[in-house]
Amino acid sequence: MKRVNQLRARVYDIINSRLNRFAKGPLRDFAKPGFLCFKLTERCNSRCVHCGIWHNTDSGRELSKDDWICIINNLRDWTGPANLVITGGEALLRPDALDLVRHACNVGMVVELLSNGIACDHRVCEQIVLSGVDRITFSLDGITPQTHASIRGIPDNFVCTLEAIENIDKHRKKYRSEIKILLKTVLMRENIHEVIAIGDWITSQGKAEWRIQPIEQNYGERDNPLWYKTSDLWITDLKAVTHLVSELKQRKKDGCPLQNDFQSLDYIASYFANPDTYMRAIQSHNLPGLDWTPPANFEVSAAGDVRFSFMLQPAGNLKDSSPKDIWNRRH
Ligand SMILES: C[S@@+](CC[C@H](N)C(=O)[O-])C[C@H]1O[C@@H](n2cnc3c(N)ncnc32)[C@H](O)[C@@H]1O
Repeated sequence: MKRVNQLRARVYDIINSRLNRFAKGPLRDFAKPGFLCFKLTERCNSRCVHCGIWHNTDSGRELSKDDWICIINNLRDWTGPANLVITGGEALLRPDALDLVRHACNVGMVVELLSNGIACDHRVCEQIVLSGVDRITFSLDGITPQTHASIRGIPDNFVCTLEAIENIDKHRKKYRSEIKILLKTVLMRENIHEVIAIGDWITSQGKAEWRIQPIEQNYGERDNPLWYKTSDLWITDLKAVTHLVSELKQRKKDGCPLQNDFQSLDYIASYFANPDTYMRAIQSHNLPGLDWTPPANFEVSAAGDVRFSFMLQPAGNLKDSSPKDIWNRRH
C-alpha cells in the first residue's frame, strides 16, 4: 500500500506542479497545492545563527492534537495521497508529534519529518521508524563538532545527529523498514570550507541521501530582499562558490547521493553572483526555474494559519475553514 501511495503522491506532484505553473483560466481551478507543510510548533531547541524561529517560545497558540488530526483528515480527503513535510521549530518537542506523523501515514499521506536530531535517542528513533514515516531528514551543517555547533548553537548537536543516523539505520534494519534518511546542509560562509567533506562522509557511510540549500534570509524575520548585504553568513568569495559547485557536480557524477540536480547546483553559483535575480526562486525552494510565482504552497503554521508563500499574509485559518475554501481564496 505504501508503494501505491508513494506513486499516487508522485503523480499528484507532477500534475499539480504543472497546473500551478502553467494553467490559465478555468483549468487553473483544478490545481491543488504544490507543497504541503505543517509547522507543528515554533518552539525549538536549536539556536541557529541562520534562523530566528527559536526566539519564539510561545506555545499558547499551538493547535491541539485533535485539531491536527482533523486537518490531516480534511486535507487527505481533498488531495488524496500527497507529499507532506512535517517540521517546526522542532516538531519533536511536541510529545504527540509522532502520533500525528503516524496518523498522516495511516491515511495515505507520504510524509517527511524534518528534525535537528537533538531529541532523537534510541527509543525515539525506534518510534520514528515504526511511525511509518517515509523519510526522516536531519540537518547537518558541518562535519566537525565545532562547525556544526557554531551554526546550530548547541555543543552536543553534532554527536546527537550522528547517533540519530546510526539509530535510525539500526532500527530500519531490525524492522525491515524502507524509511529513507536525508541529510540537509545549509550552505553559508561559516561552512563552505567543509561542504565537500560532508558529502564525502555521507558517501562513505552509505546510509543517507544529501541535499544542499543555499543560505536565505533568516527564517522568522520580516522580508527584506537586501538582507544579504549586511549578513555575516552571505558568501562573497565567488571563486570559492564556483569551485565548490564544480566539485559537487563531479562528486555527484562519481556517485555521491546528492539530491540537487545539476541545474540546481549551477543556480547556487548564479545566486551568490546575482542575488537580486535569483533570491525569490531560491526562497521559494522552487528550483530549477527563476519563476517563483504563482504561489502554490500550503504552509500551515503552529496556530493553523495557511500561507501560500513565505511572503504572503495568511489566507485563512484551518480551525474555521476547510483547506479547499482557503485554497480557493488565492485568486
Ligand atoms: C526551520 S528548520 C526546522 C527543522 C529542525 N528544527 C531543524 O533544525 O532542522 C528547517 C530547515 O530550515 C533550514 N533553515 C533555517 N534557516 C534557514 C535560512 N536562513 N536559510 C536556509 N535554510 C534555513 C534549517 O537549517 C533546517 O534544515
